[in-house]
Amino acid sequence: MTNYQNIVVLTGAGISAESGLSTFRGDDGLWENHRLEDVATPEAFRRDPELVHRFYNMRRANLGTVRPNPAHKALARLEQEHDGEVLVITQNIDDLHERGGSRNILHMHGELLKVHCRSCAEVFDWSGDIDETVECPDCGVIPSLRPHIVWFGEMPFCMYEIDEALRSCDLFVSIGTSGNVYPAAGFVAQVSAMGRARSIELNLEPSEGVSLFNEARQGPASKLVPEFVERLLAGEA
Ligand code: OAD
Repeated sequence: MTNYQNIVVLTGAGISAESGLSTFRGDDGLWENHRLEDVATPEAFRRDPELVHRFYNMRRANLGTVRPNPAHKALARLEQEHDGEVLVITQNIDDLHERGGSRNILHMHGELLKVHCRSCAEVFDWSGDIDETVECPDCGVIPSLRPHIVWFGEMPFCMYEIDEALRSCDLFVSIGTSGNVYPAAGFVAQVSAMGRARSIELNLEPSEGVSLFNEARQGPASKLVPEFVERLLAGEA
């Protein structure tokens, strides 16, 4: 029996690091050998769409080589065993929460396994490659498909649902995110300003916003998250 009703969990690249996916702000400042500005902005896509397609095609294909780790699985356990609500808001574009067993997930920065049409705006499940010669299955326009990913300068998805969830939660947990990218980096301030929820950070190192949390623990997610879920479900957290 936990001490909370509505639990919101924000996750970032750190939760998938031990599955073998690169975080964004490693020591070299590069993401998979590319500067973020060269692959994760609308300007980059306009300048060199084939480079951007190649980059995300590789990321999509790479998903087949990685597996959920104990942190993803522990969040799925929490969702299954907790009496109230558990919502995972992830900044990650991988599908490791889904494969770990979570069902209530919002992908605020999009999903690698989806593409959308920039002509008719339809969204499609997609597991293979795309390039500028592929036609939209719905409206038939070429070129039209792009990764269903939120790039810098674009509006994150699901902001209305996220706002509602942050307002109604009584526990906010942030896992594996550096707190560099807004709006996600501002969620803890939003929650603490309302004064209703307890907030906890689980991260390898203190994030930018660590002082805003009621509690912070440092370590690898694969260890911290299962321990935390165990305590939570036992009513000890
Ligand atoms: P970052 O790469 O900025 O931060 C990852 C965080 O995870 C860091 O604070 C690490 O210390 C921590 N970390 C690394 N390994 C870990 C482990 N094994 N266990 C626990 N924590 C670990 O990634 P995000 O904060 O997710 O946006 O980045 C946010 C957004 O910036 C991304 O969604 C992406 C990027 O630009 C877009 O593409 C729109």
